[in-house]
Amino acid sequence: MNLEITPPRALRGITRVPGDKSISHRAAMLGALAKGDTHIENFLTGADCLATVKCLAEMGVSFTGPDEKGRLTVHGRGPAGLKEPENVLDAGNSGTTIRLMLGILAGLPFFTVITGDASLRRRPMKRVTAPLSLMGARIWGRQEANLAPLALRGGELQGGSFSLPVASAQVKSALLLAGLSARGETRVVEPAPSRDHTERMLQYFGAEIHKEGLTVWIKGGQVLTGRRVTVPGDISSAAFLMVAAAMIPGSDVTIREVGVNPTRDGILEVLRAMGADLEIFNRHHLGGEPVADIRVRHSRLKGVTIGGELIPRLIDEIPILAVAGALAEGELVVRDAAELKVKESNRIDTVVRELRKFGVEVEALADGLRVRGGRPLTGTSCASHGDHRIAMAMAVAGLVARGKTVIQNAGCVDVSFPGFASILSSLRVD
Ligand code: S3P
Repeated sequence: MNLEITPPRALRGITRVPGDKSISHRAAMLGALAKGDTHIENFLTGADCLATVKCLAEMGVSFTGPDEKGRLTVHGRGPAGLKEPENVLDAGNSGTTIRLMLGILAGLPFFTVITGDASLRRRPMKRVTAPLSLMGARIWGRQEANLAPLALRGGELQGGSFSLPVASAQVKSALLLAGLSARGETRVVEPAPSRDHTERMLQYFGAEIHKEGLTVWIKGGQVLTGRRVTVPGDISSAAFLMVAAAMIPGSDVTIREVGVNPTRDGILEVLRAMGADLEIFNRHHLGGEPVADIRVRHSRLKGVTIGGELIPRLIDEIPILAVAGALAEGELVVRDAAELKVKESNRIDTVVRELRKFGVEVEALADGLRVRGGRPLTGTSCASHGDHRIAMAMAVAGLVARGKTVIQNAGCVDVSFPGFASILSSLRVD
């Protein structure tokens, strides 16, 4: 599927974005491990979270839904309700599915093979399989259990203490989920704070979990209880609309009930520093997560330099920030973001390659990129590289480019933001 984009006069209106991808995965997984029903509202029905549901269903977990409104009930029967799957589990394009599932599978006394699509089969898994092996799981795969397909024999785990070389919520979460079924205590120390949805949701489902600075620990053998979870709108999806509204003159867009967890809200901080006109109001909580309405009006943007501990708080928003940088005055520089190379695509390369097609002056750095803003963009034909966030970032670039832009193979948008094109159309003023 190709996506055609032309510049609107402005974007205006009030909208919502689909449920948070990270939180949806965790709600399905914790619901499966819990005893009793978990009723989820606003579950993201994008391909990634559906892959999680399918993997769990293949292990005998029973679900009702999801329906078109994102209502999903998980009929949890505790960890013993998960059975050896007869077939290979398929995580599709989803890093969160494969890494968090590995954490769960490590503690279950059976054999599993898990794989994914061509992009996922290239992404590094050793960061998860190495510590899980130390806890007692047996895992096989290419490059010493670094690349999927991965075969795994779980069983009796022993808790441990792990110092992570990269700030990764997927690795931290896999270890905490393994720790939940391990003997003794499991401790994870991160180099910088990464998203803490797993910790919040474990607590919300009744587990005791402790945190002090960059260390989080959990005792094994705790029982989770099914809960009602309303998933906040995904700030990573809202980011595309926020940047579009900030860049297009005359725009005024409000997005309701967006997750504003402080480990995820780096994009708000950076857009503000760039001079964006943001209003954040109606703050409240949904199932242990902070949410708010976000109003964005057009303003002149200027480039900034970002790096350090801010990066994990906006790692998925860097492609769309690069687009904002292209329109801004001065330079946008991103450092300390080498992790971008191992996302759904190598996002340093793919952002540079695709933005250059619009005439943007942009250069790859070893651990980030530099965008020189202020030149007019010209519509072009872009490749998605099978990466949902690259497809959407370039679609937003198309909204501010002269003439028509085509995003080829844009079907991958459905991985995280089904309805992206129709929400954009509903906000257009032509
Ligand atoms: C995610 C964590 C991040 C993020 C990904 C979702 C999660 O990856 O990029 O889109 O749900 O835990 P890492 O934890 O590997 O950095």
